[in-house]
This record gives sequence, structure tokens and C-alpha cells, in this order.
Amino acid sequence: MKKTVNQNIMPVSAKIDSDDRLSIGGVAIDTLVQEFGSPLWVICQETIEQAAHSLKAGLAHYPRSLPCYAGKAFLCTAMAKLVQEIGFGLDVVSDGELYTALTAGFDPSKIFFHGNNKSASELRYAIECGAKDKGRSGSSPRIIIDNFQDILRIDEIAQQLDTTVQVLVRIIPGIEIDTHEYIKTGHDASKFGIPLEQIDDAIQMIEDAPGLALIGLHAHIGSQAMDTQAYVDLVALMADLYRQYKEKYGKQMDHLDVGGGVGIAYIDSDQPINLTDWAKSIADAVIETFNNNQLALPELSIEPGRAIIGTAGITLYEIGNLKRLPQGTNYLSVDGGMADNPRPITYAAQYTCDIANRMSSRHSSKAEKWTVVGRYCESGDIIVQETSLEAYQGDTLCVFCTGAYNYSMSSNYNRTTKPACVLVKDGRAAVIIQRESLQDLVAHDRIPSWIATEAGKK
Ligand SMILES: Cc1ncc(COP(=O)(O)O)c(C=O)c1O
Repeated sequence: MKKTVNQNIMPVSAKIDSDDRLSIGGVAIDTLVQEFGSPLWVICQETIEQAAHSLKAGLAHYPRSLPCYAGKAFLCTAMAKLVQEIGFGLDVVSDGELYTALTAGFDPSKIFFHGNNKSASELRYAIECGAKDKGRSGSSPRIIIDNFQDILRIDEIAQQLDTTVQVLVRIIPGIEIDTHEYIKTGHDASKFGIPLEQIDDAIQMIEDAPGLALIGLHAHIGSQAMDTQAYVDLVALMADLYRQYKEKYGKQMDHLDVGGGVGIAYIDSDQPINLTDWAKSIADAVIETFNNNQLALPELSIEPGRAIIGTAGITLYEIGNLKRLPQGTNYLSVDGGMADNPRPITYAAQYTCDIANRMSSRHSSKAEKWTVVGRYCESGDIIVQETSLEAYQGDTLCVFCTGAYNYSMSSNYNRTTKPACVLVKDGRAAVIIQRESLQDLVAHDRIPSWIATEAGKK
């Protein structure tokens, strides 16, 4: 492939042909835009499979592991099917994600239900879903307890349904990683989990609850982590808690979940940890610390989202208006923006882009500096702050690494329709999420009678 952007940023199947045009999954970008329209989210299946494979390789020497995919990064029925096919469990955080997974036929016993404010109806749905459908394994999702209210609620529902729910407790480990404030979750002031000072009380409450069976602890220290040390520290802290539990209750918790958050490269300077190395360091740390504490090795879960789907996704936009301001700023406008990718405006996320039909454009003598902006009514709707490109109206701009938290955080801001999402592999492309229509936008609208009728106005 010709040298363009850092290849860590591109899907593994990305290729540039002799006409300087990009293809993904063996399908030319021009063909994708012609067939499915613009803007368009494109997901490379091979990249997902390769990431999953790398992660599993790091866990291969560990006796019992259940790697999971954090569905919040990107979930639809096709993705749930793919996650099941690659042999991963699935984290969900809402009834909607759970429903999506079950609709795709995902085994509920491999689902973990998270959330810092799970409603009673969501919890009931999760607890009932395994037992209800005879076609499934009969075992419900495991639920991650985030707070004391969860303990009371889950126990009450379990007793009403005459069942026992397997739970893990999410701890706030007090471990910080160097990432954006909004995606830190392991620090003392985190809204997620139970502080270490309150863990003993929480565990005692669970032990006293007839409807609950404590199977382990969980922690997630944040996202876009570029260093394994924080995970190794976390494992040591958790091993200590497992030892204390065994000393107090004379039995051992059998599952350990150290969260996700491993970072990926969005821009050239990002240096992500190799996925195999990341998983292996965690598994090694568990083996060492649990052995040192004379503890049996628990079933180990790690639960990355973006590291599985992030690099697999690209977004295609049509370039519209090119505005050169006399004060020096050049704006390159595209037909999407913050509604399909809210990460830059939410937490200053950075991205890399290219012209899919002129992949060497950044090296062209005609390249100019552009600020790539979306079409939405916010000055902060900026996709890439400054990039050098030879660009023309009608070109296809392709933004890399948009697989994670783009579709899943997207909105209909300015009453725009959400793009389609297409999965590509081996020269085939198929829609996995249909493009919304204008009719979809008003499908849930209702006009109250006092506005709708003349009589109502009087
Ligand atoms: C509990 C939990 N696990 C896993 C993840 C996945 O994080 P990432 O996509 O950064 O791997 C998140 C993200 O917010 C999370 O909250």
C-alpha cells in the first residue's frame, strides 16, 4: 500500500489502488458511496476479527477466561451476532442493548449487565430473560452491582421470581489513568461503583441477601488507556480484596473482571498498547498475585469496546462547501458532523482524515490547510481541527477510527437522519443499520388535540 496515514489508524483490509483510491474489505469506497449514499458508516469485519484474535492470544495461557465486548461502543443485531461468533461475552448497560443482543440470539448467560442507575424494570427484564425463553440456556445475565440501591432492588426482584442472581460488585479502585476527564472512571470521585471504604458493607449486604450470589468484583479504570501499569496495579488491589473476602467468609469469589478501556490510535502520534500484550500482562498479573495470595485462579474477564470496533469503522462524507476566510482559516464542510460523531465536541477527541478518491492528497503540492467542519448549527462541530489536503467539492472525505462511540452516541440534531452502516468483508458489503428516512424523523411525533383541531383551539 502507498504510504498515507499511519496504518494503525486504518482498518486492516484498507488498500489503495493504482488510481490512488481507497477500498475497505475489498470494496472500493466509490462503490460504497454510490450504492449506499453519504454520509456512511463502514465497518470492516476483518479488523474486528483480528482484534478479537489478538486479545484471545494474550489470554491463551490463562486457564479460564471470558473476554467480553463492551456493547456501548457499537451495538446492533449484526454486531451482537459477530460478537457471539468470535466467542466473546457481551457487556450491556440498558434494556435497549440487552434487547438488541437477545434479538440477535445472544446467549444471556454470557451477558453482563452494567450501569450506575439501572431501573427496576430493566433489572427485572435482565433477570427474567434467561429463564423465560426456553430456546436459550436458561441462565440469566450476570449483573454488576454499582451501588447499595442495586443490592436491594436485585434481591427483591430475585426473591419475587424465586431465583438467585449472580452478581459482581463494581469497585472504585482509586486508580487514575491519563485520559480525558470525561472518560476517567477509576478515580476516587467516580460516579461509577462503590468506594473501597464501603466495600465491606456492600459485600456483607449481598451475603445476607437470599436472592444474590456474589461471584466476583469488577472495576473499569477509564478509557483510551495507553499503559498497562494501571491494570497491573488494579489486579494487585483486587487480589487483596479477594484474599480478605476468603479470610472473612471462608470461600472464594470465582470471577474477576478488570474492565476495558485499552486505547487505540486515532492520530499519528498515538502509541497504543498491543492488544495481545495488554491481555497477557493482565493475565500474568492475575496468575502472580492470586498465586501469591494462595487463591485459586478465578474466571477472568476483560471487556474492551473501542479496541475491538474502533479501528474497524470509518465514516465517509461528501465534501460540500469550501470556505477560505480572509483572516486565514479555511473551512472544509461535509454532509455530516457532530450528529454522527459527537466525540470531538464532547471531549475534544481527535481524528485523522483523508480524501478517499485521492489518497495521496495530503502530500500533494496543491494541499491546503483545512479545518474539517460538520453541517450542524454549532461552532464546535469540528471533525478535524487542522489537516493538510488537496480537496474539492464532491470528493469523498474518509474519517478513520470512527467505529467506537460514533453510531452509539449519534443523534438526530437539527432533525437530520442518521446515516446507514455497512459491514464489509471479502469484497462483499451489506447494510447492517438502515439509513433513516425523513418519515422516521416524524414517526414518533404526536400533535396534541388542542393544537390539531379547530375545536381544541377554542
Ligand atoms: C464498565 C465499562 N467496561 C468497558 C468499557 C469499554 O471501554 P472502552 O471502549 O474504552 O474499551 C466501558 C466504557 O465506558 C465501561 O464503562
